[in-house]
Amino acid sequence: MGAARLIIVDDEKDLLELLVNRLKRKGYDVDFAENAEDAISLLQNQFYDIAIYDIRLPKMDGITLLKETKKIQPEIQVLMLTGHGTIETAIEAMKLGAFDYLAKPYNLTELEIAITKAVENKTLIEKNDSMRKIIKQHNSFQIIGKNPHFKALLELTERVANSDVPVLIEGESGTGKELFAKALHYWSNRAEEPFVAINSGALPEQLLESELFGHVKGAFTGANQDKKGLVEAANGGTLFLDELGEMPLVLQVKLLRFLETGEFRRVGDVRERKVHVRTVGATNRHLEKEVANGNFREDLYYRLNVVRLTIPPLRERKEDLTLLIHHFVKNGKTLSPEAMATLQKYHFPGNVRELHHLLERGVLLSKGDTIEADDLLLANVQKVNLKDVTTYQLCTLEQLEKEHIEKVLSEVEWNKTKAANVLGVSVRNLYRKIEQYQLKEK
Ligand SMILES: Nc1ncnc2c1ncn2[C@@H]1O[C@H](COP(=O)(O)OP(=O)(O)OP(=O)(O)O)[C@@H](O)[C@H]1O
Ligand SMILES: [Mg+2]
Repeated sequence: MGAARLIIVDDEKDLLELLVNRLKRKGYDVDFAENAEDAISLLQNQFYDIAIYDIRLPKMDGITLLKETKKIQPEIQVLMLTGHGTIETAIEAMKLGAFDYLAKPYNLTELEIAITKAVENKTLIEKNDSMRKIIKQHNSFQIIGKNPHFKALLELTERVANSDVPVLIEGESGTGKELFAKALHYWSNRAEEPFVAINSGALPEQLLESELFGHVKGAFTGANQDKKGLVEAANGGTLFLDELGEMPLVLQVKLLRFLETGEFRRVGDVRERKVHVRTVGATNRHLEKEVANGNFREDLYYRLNVVRLTIPPLRERKEDLTLLIHHFVKNGKTLSPEAMATLQKYHFPGNVRELHHLLERGVLLSKGDTIEADDLLLANVQKVNLKDVTTYQLCTLEQLEKEHIEKVLSEVEWNKTKAANVLGVSVRNLYRKIEQYQLKEK
């Protein structure tokens, strides 16, 4: 790209003049307008790489201008300037395809950094467009679903993939949170950079901090040499923080700072380091509740919540069930109508992962090409379940879990490997649950 071409729209004349002069001095070609209507006529006559819009404009506002811009020049990278307390508008702008937003008051350096990023993004898009398409297909993971809500999620994912803004993915266990996190990565211009995942709930606080940010030699007993953290390993790519709701509060402070500036310190180090990563967090908890309960920092929640993908549970998108079944059952096998009906009735506490495991087992157990209801093992469990549907809907999740585990265990005659397989959890995890609920073979 030669000199990048910018269009700036702001109704504050003095500020506008200042910006235009400054950016021209930096070597950009700059056009400007004081209202959306003038901006649109400029857009109809000239191609731009970057657009910078104030959200508050007279008559037609910045959001409407953003929409119009995307119709006229879809490739343009739009930066939005937002005022105080307009976080909803910022979210809306990101959904409509804005590249990034800056909250006022911002300083010129921040603006210049944002512009540089947008220019880099545009250059990459142009260079990698065909490349990206290949990668997109090459990463043969497919996200299946035609439920309207689910499709809207996919669209949003695609739209925000290239932006740097953090994304929060919420959904029950097995709904596809990690799959969406990967989509955000592989559908972006970071596809060839690393995708690094870490489970924030699996490690004690100190170890987690050192995993995440690294440590220097002597930082703690056993730290025999300097170690890079995962944020450094993810530089240029995506950091996926799984089970984010379980992150210790002390680390949440450090994470917030990292999200805001890209800066961090290795454990035991005095030096600041900086990387550029896109952070995606996932949780199967209700983070808003965790905030209310004091387990999750409110400021971090707001920082993460600009773009939120909430994946609906499988039982709420029954139209996807058939699609997913066809996706998972291959080798010319089919399901008997009875098996199909059984699945349609089932409530899938383990969502898509559970369906996948269930069908894998069904394929194994089936004798001919047809998978019968009995091959799903679920059949008997389900028959029992159906009788007390009402109690099920009214009992706690824990009770439900306990009863379900108990039923599966008795169904497979307490073979724990089999039971873990059915439940879609590790054997270790199952042992923990058996202990927790004090389950005993009868
Ligand atoms: N829409 C979908 N299309 C195809 N496969 C899917 C879909 N949703 C989930 N899967 C598959 O289901 C399995 C579980 O998905 P994933 O690991 O992303 O779930 P998760 O929400 O991260 O679960 P957990 O909360 O247990 O970590 C994976 O094998 C994934 O590929
Ligand atoms: Mg997961």
